[in-house]
Amino acid sequence: MKVLTVVGARPQFVKAAVVSRAIAAMSREGAAIDEIIVHTGQHYDANMSEVFFEEMRIPRPQHNLDIHEGTHGAMTGRMLERLEAVMAGEKPDVVLVYGDTNSTLAGAIAAAKLDLPLAHVEAGLRSFRRDMPEEINRMVTDQMSQWLFCPTATAVVNLAAEGFPTPEGEGGARTFRGSRVRLVGDVMLDAVRYYRKTATPGPVVTEVLRSTGGRFALATVHRAENTDDPVRLEAIVGGLEQIAREIPVVFPVHPRTRKIVVQRGLATGAVRVLEPVGYFDMLVLLDRCAAVLTDSGGLQKEAFFFGKPCITLRDETEWTELVAAGVNRLAGADRGRIVDGFRAMTGGELPLAPALYGDGHAGERVVAELAAR
Ligand code: UD1
Repeated sequence: MKVLTVVGARPQFVKAAVVSRAIAAMSREGAAIDEIIVHTGQHYDANMSEVFFEEMRIPRPQHNLDIHEGTHGAMTGRMLERLEAVMAGEKPDVVLVYGDTNSTLAGAIAAAKLDLPLAHVEAGLRSFRRDMPEEINRMVTDQMSQWLFCPTATAVVNLAAEGFPTPEGEGGARTFRGSRVRLVGDVMLDAVRYYRKTATPGPVVTEVLRSTGGRFALATVHRAENTDDPVRLEAIVGGLEQIAREIPVVFPVHPRTRKIVVQRGLATGAVRVLEPVGYFDMLVLLDRCAAVLTDSGGLQKEAFFFGKPCITLRDETEWTELVAAGVNRLAGADRGRIVDGFRAMTGGELPLAPALYGDGHAGERVVAELAAR
């Protein structure tokens, strides 16, 4: 079997690392599975891309399309054209896409147009906000997919509500191309379990740990809804600066956010601004921080995996089970709610939460399902 994996943005490298490792393990056990990796180039800075391939030992992509920048339509269109040519040449048995980025969308449409079976890892997530680019990307991708690998029970429920079959095969009257919904768990939990044992900090994070005495809050911001709205971004940075009077705030800044933060002269105060950090550095920061403040989907879950409270800098989240469990609080882009949320969530013990994201073997399940097709 030949699997063609499409990646392009930072969170996809983490997810693909898990499944690639599972493919390699199954091949060693005698299953004949070849993986071809295509990197669209959406994320291209060394600390947004290369460092993940190195640290997580992801096989080198066979195709690097070097497509980034431009409007969403232009970026996606260029990817679609190139991906179609690569897929037509490689003739894979299945195309594998992850998450909800423009690279995911382009991979999904290219596969569907060539009538190639498509598998979507992290299917079924919904924010119920169609003004988010990620929501459009995930909804279209799910519609095109034969395999919808869900990380959570909530994702399965979302798909069932849209007319997809359940994992037991019930319902599904309205779906396209015989979709199979499978609850496999979250590959990001697999990644944390596997890599946390060996993650060591680089020089920047080592210095952060030393200078803060290991007492700090960890913040990240990159969503368009926050970075592209000056009122929201100012409120968030204001909230972080207020928290930084109580505890050091460490803020690895995504390039999108950096451009705007620098332009607007924000975060010049107590907040400790860093370049984007690699996966190992992030695992160390998660392990040592007092709390996470973020608008990232992945980091909300990683906070939970490390038993850390999360204050989410959005008005809603796809990971609703974390809010229900009392370990994640939505603070929007409201300075008062961010500061209050931080104080409330770090003031006492976190409630014990159930295992919401599977058992750390999601990657193996994905590969087993594909191999049994
Ligand atoms: C993308 C995804 C988002 C995901 C995020 C993870 C879409 C629509 N959005 O958003 O869902 O959560 O990745 O990080 O696909 N840039 C650099 N260097 C890089 C990468 C980006 O300078 O290595 C710059 C780009 O040139 C652009 C900006 O950052 O100006 C935004 O990059 P883009 O890929 O458009 O989207 P993200 O904000 O990263």
